[in-house]
Amino acid sequence: MKTLHITVLAACALAAPLAMAQTAAKLKVGLMLPYTGTYAALGTAIENGFRLHLAEQGGKLGGREIEFIKVDDESDPSKATDNVNKLIKRDNVDVLVGSVHSGVAMAMAKVAKDTGTILMVPNAGADIVTGAMCAPNIFRSSFTNWQPGYAMGEVVAKKGHKKVVTITWKYAAGDESVNAFKESFEKGGGKVVKALNLPFPNVEFQALLTEIAATKPDAVYTFFAGGGAVKFVKDYAAAGLKKSIPLYGAGFLTDGTLEAQGADAADLLTTLHYADSLSTARDDAFRLAYAKTYRLQPDVYAVQGYDAAQMLGIGLAAVKGDLSKRAGFTSAIEKAKINSPRGAFTLSKSHNPVQDIYLRQVVGKENKVIGVASKALADPARGCKM
Ligand code: BEZ
Repeated sequence: MKTLHITVLAACALAAPLAMAQTAAKLKVGLMLPYTGTYAALGTAIENGFRLHLAEQGGKLGGREIEFIKVDDESDPSKATDNVNKLIKRDNVDVLVGSVHSGVAMAMAKVAKDTGTILMVPNAGADIVTGAMCAPNIFRSSFTNWQPGYAMGEVVAKKGHKKVVTITWKYAAGDESVNAFKESFEKGGGKVVKALNLPFPNVEFQALLTEIAATKPDAVYTFFAGGGAVKFVKDYAAAGLKKSIPLYGAGFLTDGTLEAQGADAADLLTTLHYADSLSTARDDAFRLAYAKTYRLQPDVYAVQGYDAAQMLGIGLAAVKGDLSKRAGFTSAIEKAKINSPRGAFTLSKSHNPVQDIYLRQVVGKENKVIGVASKALADPARGCKM
């Protein structure tokens, strides 16, 4: 009995310095984001936002310095499992942050679930990540594809449009966005008469625009983002459709893209959990700090990166930087009210933001808020058992 007592004491004496050494070491964060391709600007904005929050905290989260290991995931789901496995097995990252593309994020979530690695999703909206794949170690600082799509279906139905054509890329984000739109639009008495799509990241829209013109719907709903959104908005106007068939979209259509879209985006209505004219003290401070640091205006992606860092910081602070105290880390984030530039939000049981979805209108170079399309909208988290 005495021997056992001494052994336990000795083990504790050894374990204490080990834990201290671990929390003194830098926390390795694997940033798996697109830095090339149609979503390149989105990846950069997310990293900028993440780094801005870190800088505001004096370069530490929960008392730990951060070491970044970066991977360009190219928005390519076929490379995602290899990329994420390298970050975990070769680079020994403590935390994964990524990604933008839903297909890439689903692969990351699978590996995170299998290995128990903490995953912060700073954009990709794949419903399943906080639906059937939900897990205690997976958190999202952004949205589900369902959220802006569902909110816009209600808006378009209330406007009295009856016949709508949807157009998007054929992958999880596009499919889920238009399905969510259809769900609420048809509940509100409308009908989606045609669902058009093309493979990601193709931007050969001409044949589909001709089909829209021939179908003569009351309106069009779309999901495109990044470089593809710029091209779609310009092509829609050039085809002469903007004058005759109102175009509505999930807000990614006009976020971070207005400089390039110019007058072709004027007046477009979109739904999203952020806007350029919130005019709150919190958002004004964020926008000023971002503009000073990067000589750029922030967009929704920058906010989501900033909030991913805030969420990680909240969890780490609760356990004084010791990630082995997983229960304390998780419950701190679950209980938190995150003081986001978009407006404060909490996480649902499935770890997805419960948030206001704004109705925005493009005025000059801004997505101006013209109302709240859906207050405190929570994703239905279909299939999540946690
Ligand atoms: C997605 O793939 O989930 C996505 C990409 C860009 C903007 C929004 C969603």
